[in-house]
Parts: sequence; structure tokens; C-alpha cells
Amino acid sequence: MPPTSTDDLRQAYLDFFQEKGHAVIPGAPLIPENDPTVLFTTAGMHPLVPYLLGEPHPAGKRLVDVQRCIRTQDIDEVGDISHLTCFEMLGNWSLGDYFKEGAIEMSFQFLTEVLEIPKNMLAVSCFEGDDDAPKDEGAAACWKEVGIPEERIAFLPKVANWWGPAGRTGPCGPDTEMFYWIGKGKPHGNPRENEKDWLEIWNDVFMQYNKKKDGTFEPLEQQNVDTGMGLERTAAVMQGVSNVYEIDTVKPILDHVLRLHENVEEEVGGRLKEETIRHARIITDHLKAAVFIIGDGIKPSNVDRGYILRRLIRRAIRSARSLGIEHSGAFTPAIAETIVQQYGHFYGNLHEKEREIRDALSHEEMQFSKTLTEGLKQFQKAVEKAGDTIDGETAFHLYDTYGFPIEMTQELAAENHMKVEKKGFEEAFRKHQELSRKGAEQKFSGGLADHSAETTKLHTATHLLNAALRKVLGGHVFQKGSNITAERLRFDFSHDAKMTPEQLKQVEDLVNKAIEEDLPIRYHITSVEEAKKENAIGVFDERYESEVKVYVVGNEKITFSREICGGPHVARTGMIGKFTIKKEESSSAGVRRIKAVVEGGPEEIEFATEG
Ligand code: SER
Repeated sequence: MPPTSTDDLRQAYLDFFQEKGHAVIPGAPLIPENDPTVLFTTAGMHPLVPYLLGEPHPAGKRLVDVQRCIRTQDIDEVGDISHLTCFEMLGNWSLGDYFKEGAIEMSFQFLTEVLEIPKNMLAVSCFEGDDDAPKDEGAAACWKEVGIPEERIAFLPKVANWWGPAGRTGPCGPDTEMFYWIGKGKPHGNPRENEKDWLEIWNDVFMQYNKKKDGTFEPLEQQNVDTGMGLERTAAVMQGVSNVYEIDTVKPILDHVLRLHENVEEEVGGRLKEETIRHARIITDHLKAAVFIIGDGIKPSNVDRGYILRRLIRRAIRSARSLGIEHSGAFTPAIAETIVQQYGHFYGNLHEKEREIRDALSHEEMQFSKTLTEGLKQFQKAVEKAGDTIDGETAFHLYDTYGFPIEMTQELAAENHMKVEKKGFEEAFRKHQELSRKGAEQKFSGGLADHSAETTKLHTATHLLNAALRKVLGGHVFQKGSNITAERLRFDFSHDAKMTPEQLKQVEDLVNKAIEEDLPIRYHITSVEEAKKENAIGVFDERYESEVKVYVVGNEKITFSREICGGPHVARTGMIGKFTIKKEESSSAGVRRIKAVVEGGPEEIEFATEG
């Protein structure tokens, strides 16, 4: 019997590839450990990038796993039959082992023998070729060899049949995708001729190239295969349901949402309205994403991952409101409970962190519920005033004062057959950032004048601390937050375990040694790209303007730290004084916090200059 339940399908995939000599490796967390090019793990290949670039993997050359993924680029399509922001990817890899032929043979065998999908229900696509790489005749020949007829093979351009790199640089190559017939009547055509009739379920990527920072492609020494099968989509195929929300693991979540809706609306019995279904699906998907993200250690906030999380939760709450569901702090945790019930046995971290997940959701729900009502009133007023467009300032006001993520405003506008002036929003956003930055600088030179020497010393000490932590604990350490008062510095960074007393001593010693060496500090202004090239540490996100300042602590002999930063800093490390760590504690899951002080430096300092 072919596997039908999601659990059986996951297992069948792992078993099949294990039998074919693949080592089963655990999926990684959603937060990439040492990769500033992406915010979330978006594919199974992600955590494997170093190995795809040639480093040997401890488990061997054939790997298989199940990877939880977050992809927000398809967020607008969530609510249709097949798009999700949170999904599981089944993947198998060849690290310089088998290539096109082996990959295609195994994919075909899994589909037709293990899943028992009739061959005539399948179609494939291959890369049609361009200036970067030739038409993938090789892949097409392999498909013909296993018995896929020519008319089911579509050749498509790069947008469709090229994968990667996951960030701006890295391994990539042409791919071949497998599709299942979801059209009416007998299967016909292919994903080029009648795309809508074919559902993509699996992608075999032939990683032959490395995309470099300058945008060119160099052949990889080691030819790899990276495959990714959408677990939810394939489960839908196996379960004979028309969309990913009806599969065994997801339907209970959707049903829970709809039950809450039916309590307050008169829409029972008959067919649900299309809008109701869409909102219920958005809630289901977004809250599932939120549960997984919080389960991997992120909390809602206004930056980076925390902000994506916040947007997902708020969008779900807005949809809940459209369905008339009560949302005063208890709604999202209740749905989360159902989500954990569905996934906790496979993702143990969800069980472990259930309390934390529910609390974080509840808190965010309460916070947003407070401003949502008033914000919606303001939105309504804007609609009445405006023609067919909500201007950027209004959109920014909704964001800034009522916490409306921009895509939520856009969605509300669309429901009113209006548009949002996104450019204007972005301008207002930038202007606001500019003002608050200026404000901060002014405060620095004005309001904080009497302490500025102290805060500057602590600021430079923070850079030394960041560098020292990376030296002692490893390159997975990244700044997660920093706060400086005249008395102390506080620094949050990614690291899983409590630091040992020895590690703390090592870090403290390294910082003090750098201070004793009285190293000069200088900055230069450069592009984000160049800063990356010179290995400056930084957060690398939209926060940066195109030009950044890189502060370097070091002399001709050693560079102790190289970091993107607005400044200011002291001119020499000797001005900092003695550095002492006062406390090391947990800040949130996977994030540690250090509080430290400096004392005994000169009262008057000089500032680091350009050079
Ligand atoms: N990386 C490819 C994808 O995401 C295959 O795993 O589709």
C-alpha cells in the first residue's frame, strides 16, 4: 500500500532514500545559524551550503532529511490551493556522487513505485538554456529514458527552471521539476502549454555553478544534486484532496478556525463564502508559521525575523477579525494548541516550548487588538477621503501608530478596490528613520554630553566583545541586540548554551588584551557589498543604506574587529579602561545576554576618525 498520511509519507521518503545509501540527517532550525544572507531557512539545501560548496559532510555523500521551511515571498498567494509560508520539504542530496541520471531515476522510482502514481499523471520541466548555461538536454534525455513521453516534457526559462542561490551568492544550477495532473479530464499537455493543470510537487536541482558576488557563474568543482519535495502538496495528491489545507495534518487546524467562525456567523450549512475560506486558510498558514518560528526561538519585534513573525501574526489576527472571531488574547494560543497537537510528535521543540509559544502569541494578540479597532476606523476615514489610492503618509501613519504592516493595509485597500502608494510609504518610512537617527545623534552630542565619553568607551568595548565572542565561541555568534547606558553595556548574541566560567574569562581576557595593546580604531565608508567582501560583521538587511561605515580595530599586524556601524568610537582601545563582564544570562531561546562595564579609562577621549 502506498503511504497516504503525512506521517507515513515523510517516513516512506526517508526509508526509500536510506535504502539507496543516503544517511538520514536531522532537519535544521528555521533560523540559519551562520548565514547573514537569508532570514529563515527556505529550503532543505540551506543548512547544507558549505557541503554543496565542497566541504566534506560528516555523514557522507548521500543525504536525506525533512526540513521545516519558511518562505514569505509567496505570501500573497497564501489562501489558494497550494501556497504556504510554512511547509515541510523532503530532500535528498548527492554531494559529488550521483548526478542527473541517478537523481531522475530515483525520483521517478519513488513517485511511480513507492507512491504508485500512474506515469500518465506526471509531467516534467527542464531548463531551456540561456547565456549562463545551455539547454538541459541531459535531464530531458533521462526522463525519456525512464518513460516520460516527449509531450510531457516542458522546456522553461530561468525564472522557472533554475534554482538558487538561496541568498545573493552560492551554489545554484538548472533544475527539473515534477508535476502532478490536477486538471479536468484526461491528462494532457505539460507545464508549458497548460500550466494551471499541473501541480509542482518535486524539484531536482543540478548544482553545477557557484554564483559569485559580481553576478557571474563559475562551475562548481563538485557537481551536486539538491532535491526538494513539497510534503503538503504530495500529501494532498496521496490523500486525493484538492488543496493543501485539506490534508490530515492541516485540516484539524483549519476546522478549528472555522468552528470559531461558525459560532459567531450565520454561514453554516451552506457553502462557505470564498472570502471566508481564504481568511481561514491565511489564519491556518500564518499561525502555523508563527508557532514554528517561535518554537525556534524568535519573538515578535520590529526588526528582522521578529518583524516577519509579527506581520504573520497580525495578518492572521486581521483575518480573524474579518471572520468575526474574538481576538483578545485567547484566540491565537488556542489555535497554536491544535498546531502543536498536529506537529509536536515530529517536532519535539514545539511540545517543549508550547507554553512560551502560547504566551508570545497571546501577548502579541492583546497588543494588536488594542490598536486594530482604532486603526480600522482611521483606515475607513482614509478610504472615504481618498479616490482610488491610499497615500503613503496615511499608510505610514497606520503602520507607525496602529502597527498595521504594509501588506495588511494593501490587503484592506484591495478589499475596497483601492491601491496603496507603496513608494510614498517607503519614503515616509525612510524619512522617519532618518529623523530618528538624527535625533539619536543629537542626543548623543547634546543631551548625553556629560556621559558621552563613557558611552563611547562602552560602544567600542561592545565591538571588542562581539569579536572576542566569535573567537572564543565560534562564527555562529551574531549580534542580536545592543543597549548602552552611561553605566554599562548590554549585548545580546546568538549562542545556544550558557557560557562556562572559562569561556567568560577567555572573552574578558581577549578584550582586555586588545585594550592593553592600545590598538587604533579607524573607519572607512564603503558599499554594503564591499563591506561584505572584506568580511565585516553586520546584520546585512534593509536597515543599511547603500553606503556604510566600517570600523576597524587593529594595526598593521592584527585586525581585532571589523564591523559595520554608525559610530562613534574612541580613537584607541587604550581609552576604554578595564573591561569586566558582570553577568551572562539567557535573553531568549538561542540568544544569550552579557552585561559588562568599563572603568578607569581617561575622562576625556578622542573619537576615531576616517582613514
Ligand atoms: N532547493 C530546491 C528548492 O527549494 C530543491 O530543494 O526547490
